[in-house]
Amino acid sequence: MSTAFDLTGRTALITGGGRGLGAGITRAMLDAGADVIVYGRRDLPQDLVDYASERSRRLDFYSVDIGDSDALASVSATVLAEHQVDILVNNAGTQERHPAVEFPLESFDRVMDVNLRSVFQLCQIFGAPMLKRGHGSIVNLASLLSFQGGLTVPAYAASKGAVAQLTKALCNEWSGKGVNVNAVAPGYMATEMNTALLADPVRLEQLSVRIPAGRWGEPEDIGNVVVFLASPASAYIHGQVLAVDGGWLAR
Ligand SMILES: NC(=O)c1ccc[n+]([C@@H]2O[C@H](COP(=O)([O-])OP(=O)(O)OC[C@H]3O[C@@H](n4cnc5c(N)ncnc54)[C@H](OP(=O)(O)O)[C@@H]3O)[C@@H](O)[C@H]2O)c1
Repeated sequence: MSTAFDLTGRTALITGGGRGLGAGITRAMLDAGADVIVYGRRDLPQDLVDYASERSRRLDFYSVDIGDSDALASVSATVLAEHQVDILVNNAGTQERHPAVEFPLESFDRVMDVNLRSVFQLCQIFGAPMLKRGHGSIVNLASLLSFQGGLTVPAYAASKGAVAQLTKALCNEWSGKGVNVNAVAPGYMATEMNTALLADPVRLEQLSVRIPAGRWGEPEDIGNVVVFLASPASAYIHGQVLAVDGGWLAR
């Protein structure tokens, strides 16, 4: 039986969909009935490939560094020729930690290219045919650092603040043309991105006691929220940055 959360027949492109939160989003999309295309640098893990085939869903992988805009344009031209992308999830992101005065400018540029420029470029590339069809959903991965400044992560905070604003800017242009643009702002999630935080017992304790839900988030906490924002159930939700943070921002 079809429900408002059903994505059968849709194709979702998920950047970084092979690992971390992205893998949780890929699994939730496959469960909801969508076929999935993943962009990433490392090959897909076998368990994800098996997950798709057990559900008779299509899972395609394209190797690309999304911080390289020429490579991103070239791979995306191939994808556009071979697939109709109904859902775009800009999930891939990167992180660099240095005190602000020592933060290398090349690192700043790299974080901005991966976390922000690629998001805008992919919204342009895949948003254009969505607008032409009058139908589509875009979900960007924002962060608590879309709202807060963080510590020793100035490039990341700047990029994620901009992702939130870009989400609203595109909403204003595209919501009346059938394309939903929203963002999810995860709280503290136990993924590779937070290896340094998870390995620092003092910082880990400081962060953990402040989470009202009493635990760090997992990829499964994000996947179904992204499915919701990509599904007919959220047809009247536009330009939101939805915190999925165990209550962190409420505190
Ligand atoms: N973890 C958190 O606590 C947290 C909190 C708030 C927001 N977020 C956001 O949520 C998203 C996912 O985070 P995560 O925790 O899952 O991170 P992660 O575990 O570090 O995974 C990052 C993913 O992005 C891909 N990626 C990174 N750089 C890439 C590049 N240049 N080109 C192509 N793919 C690239 C990686 O794939 P490859 O290595 O294969 O390229 C990987 O699949 C990010 O946007 C992050 O900023 C995370």
